[in-house]
Amino acid sequence: MKILGIESSCDETAAAVVEDGVRLLSNVVASSMDLHKPYGGVVPEIAARSHMEAIIPVVEQALSDADCTWDDIDGIAVTYGAGLGGSLLVGVMTARTLAITKNKPLYAINHVEGHIYVNFLTEGKMAHDATSHEFEISGKIYRLPTEQPVFPMLGLIVSGGHSQLVLWHDHFDYVLLGHTSDDAIGEAFDKVAKIIGLPYPGGPSVAAAAVNGNAEAFDFPKSRIATVSPELTALRHKIGSTRTAGYDLSFSGIKTAVLRAAQSAVGKTHELPSYELPGLLNASQKADIAASFQRVAIETIVDKTLAAVEEFQPKSVIIGGGVAASSELRRQLAERLPSPASYTDIKLCTDNGAMIAALGCFKAMRGQPTADPYSLEIAPNLSM
Ligand code: KG4
Ligand code: ZN
Repeated sequence: MKILGIESSCDETAAAVVEDGVRLLSNVVASSMDLHKPYGGVVPEIAARSHMEAIIPVVEQALSDADCTWDDIDGIAVTYGAGLGGSLLVGVMTARTLAITKNKPLYAINHVEGHIYVNFLTEGKMAHDATSHEFEISGKIYRLPTEQPVFPMLGLIVSGGHSQLVLWHDHFDYVLLGHTSDDAIGEAFDKVAKIIGLPYPGGPSVAAAAVNGNAEAFDFPKSRIATVSPELTALRHKIGSTRTAGYDLSFSGIKTAVLRAAQSAVGKTHELPSYELPGLLNASQKADIAASFQRVAIETIVDKTLAAVEEFQPKSVIIGGGVAASSELRRQLAERLPSPASYTDIKLCTDNGAMIAALGCFKAMRGQPTADPYSLEIAPNLSM
């Protein structure tokens, strides 16, 4: 079973071929990130235009890297949400057209679920170093997990657009334990970077600045959201859990706290125009703010992950999404979780086509419904 996956929900135009939900045959990603850098965030119109230029060459490259012709492909999987409308449209219209003209079944994929399913990939076409489980795919070296996840599986999805904890009992059978009620954690990293004048994307630049900072210099507040969804309540009844805490998250409070702390560090108030703030902060103040913010933001999600592990005793804990690249997240999880969490190669944590193709394979192998190539619509606000 070979599935071509197409991803275009944000600023990466990506395609990949995955076999049997386990083997990564190709992975091609073209990013327009450099075009967005001057603006400090993704500009939707620029992203959509870049997708249009890149999508056909990227799909052709993914097929050729996988040594596949269209005859070898059993189906097409495409991200239909969540994401930027203009960006999603390019991927979905391309996939719909290809499904019709090449006569292939079409699978509509939820981007967020894809971030977890990429962790099922444990093999590549060509072993680079079998002892360290490294594979060469599309000219790059990937270190993949040695084993596929096992159910029940707890998924922590942390990216620029999402922060959520999901418990899977089996494929396509899951409960959303909690999600962010405002900003996603990656978005908070991006906004904090902008406040203190670090380059976009904020995750890596905050992490780099934090290396020289004191993580205890500021005691930023952690969110205290107590909401519990009806699904979580029903799950607790089913398993006889008496816990009452919720798993929802919030990152807008800490972002405002960072702004206020930075203003007062330079002896100013909220009346200071935001564009003047980075120029007044010195390198050591920036480093302390970055390190303290990073510690508290990561602690917030690790607290909830640990609580979910204790309550639901999953057999696998999977971390997905761009923020899974954070070494502070990996350090705190390793220190606090009773058994290690599983990550894939960092190149597969950020947006890519392999995550979409991997989930597409499981849908195809398990007889999940296909999408109508004549009518599949984008769903920018899709949730789990
Ligand atoms: O999954 P992704 O590529 O795109 C979305 O689906 O949003 O995630 C991108 C996010 C950005 O917000 C970026 O700042 C964050 O991942 N990120 C990090 C790190 N590397 C990337 N956040 C924290 N620490 C990092 N090392
Ligand atoms: Zn993503």
